Amino acid sequence: MTNFKTETFEEADEYDNHSDQQYNCGLHLTKELEIKQRSTVLDIGAGTGRLALHVAGLIGKDGSYFGIDLSPERINIAKKKAKELRASNLSFEIGDGTDLSRLKDGFFDAVYMNSVFHHIKDKKKVFDECHRVLKPGGRLGFTSQVTNIPSDNVREISKTILKNRGYNLGVSNHDNYSGTVDENSRRRYWHGIYYVSHYDNYPITVDEARRYLEQTGFIVQNIDVRQNRVNFASSEDVVNSIINRDNRNFLRDVPSKKHSEIRNELITEFKKIETKEGINFVNHKLYVIAEKKSN
Ligand SMILES: C[S@@+](CC[C@H](N)C(=O)[O-])C[C@H]1O[C@@H](n2cnc3c(N)ncnc32)[C@H](O)[C@@H]1O
Repeated sequence: MTNFKTETFEEADEYDNHSDQQYNCGLHLTKELEIKQRSTVLDIGAGTGRLALHVAGLIGKDGSYFGIDLSPERINIAKKKAKELRASNLSFEIGDGTDLSRLKDGFFDAVYMNSVFHHIKDKKKVFDECHRVLKPGGRLGFTSQVTNIPSDNVREISKTILKNRGYNLGVSNHDNYSGTVDENSRRRYWHGIYYVSHYDNYPITVDEARRYLEQTGFIVQNIDVRQNRVNFASSEDVVNSIINRDNRNFLRDVPSKKHSEIRNELITEFKKIETKEGINFVNHKLYVIAEKKSN
């Protein structure tokens, strides 16, 4: 069972409004998966359903899409959108990608995880489950953060500043949290899913991803790392963006009376690399398409 801390409606809504990067990446991923009319599609970590609405058009009214996510609030938002648009080929449920036991073997033509895989600790389990629910010849697609590749420099700079002050970036880890809440009350409240912290990351290398996939029985059709460049007009813009992204999780470990001090310190640090074009940063994403061997 994956650990994940629950989020509020406001946090889920905020993700919906600040997920252009993930959405654009998902447009490429679903195109490369060549999702066809009448396909059956599983979306693991469907979030607030932005990409689902696009996939609804790809599969047409005779196709079927099933989206799962650990976050009940994101699933609520996704369901509401599908209802408003009368997208009857879409359905959503709270669920964990490492436990698809409610789903039949060999049912889906395509399974994808867009910007989700690096949040999942048990890589082998999620690949096994994807493999089991795919039809022979069905395809898995995912995008993920990667290790061994220089990461998003904005994040690295911010992390160093917080670390120098004795704070963690974003959230505290699972171990810090576990034990502070009685297990049974969490289990009752969250329908058996443990929500421990937002956005813990477990990125892997390209070679590890390939090895896991091949061990599971997939044929890797494409695996590559792509660069994404983002421009900010000023240091203030960068700092607002990092503080607001990840569901305002960024300063979670910092006492609120220290927020403005840390914010100013971040701005001062980013000023050092600001040019008259503002600040450019690059992040890297792994794109993978793999096929389940035909019998
Ligand atoms: C960065 S968001 C991406 C959401 C969506 N795929 C998109 O493209 O906008 C990561 C999502 O993965 C979900 N998630 C993380 N671990 C998961 C797991 N084990 N099973 C299902 N969903 C998971 C989170 O709740 C979150 O909504």
